[in-house]
Amino acid sequence: MHPIPLVDLKAQYAAIKPEIRSAIDGVLASAQFINGPEVSDFEQKFAAFCGAAFAVGVGNGTDALTLALKAIEVGPGDEVITTANSFIATAEAIVAVGATPVFVDVDPAHFNMTAEGLSAAITPKTKAVIPVHLYGQPAPMAEIMEVARRQSIKVIEDAAQGHGAEYNGKRAGSWGDAAAFSFYPAKNLGAYGDAGRWLQTTKIWPPPCECCGITSGPTSTCMNTSGSTAVWTRSRLRFWGQS
Ligand SMILES: Cc1ncc(COP(=O)(O)O)c(C=O)c1O
Repeated sequence: MHPIPLVDLKAQYAAIKPEIRSAIDGVLASAQFINGPEVSDFEQKFAAFCGAAFAVGVGNGTDALTLALKAIEVGPGDEVITTANSFIATAEAIVAVGATPVFVDVDPAHFNMTAEGLSAAITPKTKAVIPVHLYGQPAPMAEIMEVARRQSIKVIEDAAQGHGAEYNGKRAGSWGDAAAFSFYPAKNLGAYGDAGRWLQTTKIWPPPCECCGITSGPTSTCMNTSGSTAVWTRSRLRFWGQS
């Protein structure tokens, strides 16, 4: 019997090794290790792939969630509706900005939030909702957006497991006010190292600064993406039809 690993990162590397070696050599030669042209190139390509206005490279998916919450000024006293059936980072980001997570049940068919569950959990303290696209399956975003818009609450998609997922023909990351993606190596689209992206569908906030990706809301931390993680994720994006 030959065991088949759940994730085989060595096989992925072997399949495109020359391309990766040459791209990483390019980063080493340019000495642009943090941000730089490779990161901007990937940001643009990933935003286009998702159908979002722009993308900002950050340290990981948890940072992307936290920065998105800070950008809409979620803080102490605010409630953020989400699901407990997720990786701990979803609730952790809400707690990290001082807000209170409010958990709703998931639908047993797709394991994600429902619009009905969201609607029932809204209180005067609700500032935002974080639907999660778990296991590559999108949450019912058309219905969730309808409830959120009616109640004037912001929507941040946790798309850490949702790269390329579509609902009603629209990709994860293009529905809400913002979205957070993880590029942890074993994710649907993984990097060489830790990495994340924060997408905005419209410019509801000022364009982010080149250093830390944020201009509004309180932040004291710079979270960058390295050129070598960008070239790897961009190479793999090519296989998903985004050149
Ligand atoms: C649903 C979900 N949200 C957030 C995260 C956090 O991403 P990262 O590990 O890049 O911080 C993950 C990662 O496992 C995740 O699966």
